[in-house]
Amino acid sequence: MSMKLNIVVNGRKYTLEVDEEETLLGLLRNHLHLMGTKEGCGNGECGACTVLVDGEPMRSCLILAVEMEGRKITTVEGLSRIDSEGKVELSPVQKAFIESGAVQCGFCIPGFVVAGEALLSRKERPDERDIIEAFSGHLCRCTGYRAIIDGMKRAVEISRIESEIKHC
Ligand code: FES
Ligand code: FES
Repeated sequence: MSMKLNIVVNGRKYTLEVDEEETLLGLLRNHLHLMGTKEGCGNGECGACTVLVDGEPMRSCLILAVEMEGRKITTVEGLSRIDSEGKVELSPVQKAFIESGAVQCGFCIPGFVVAGEALLSRKERPDERDIIEAFSGHLCRCTGYRAIIDGMKRAVEISRIESEIKHC
């Protein structure tokens, strides 16, 4: 049976008819064609499908789309923005992961990026222990964990610099 759903994804409002068994992950990928959110395990164990639901990181493969009525979802595509000159401005974690070579095949990376941005939004200067905790349960099949953690440390630095520039 399909149901009507009102949802905000990456700042845009949608009213959709969705099957009551459709997951949030399926909604994002199959209906909205936001392919940055990945399906790894499909059962909550890898973190590849992580998105922000009202600012909190959650595994979209475990959530029914119809439960998201009125909620605000942010996917990895929604973390960057277009600046006043029309250029794409990546988020601190996106910039840092590229700069630090934290990305190998890239499959797991959207989940790490979303979790990393959520960490930065709740703690201004997270340390390595905070980072490891925030990334626990995120699997990288390329086993690039050291580079990912170092990338996140660089993101903390970039975020600090950007915040200082903003307040100058
Ligand atoms: Fe959702 Fe693996 S696909 S946790
Ligand atoms: Fe390949 Fe993580 S970079 S799975």
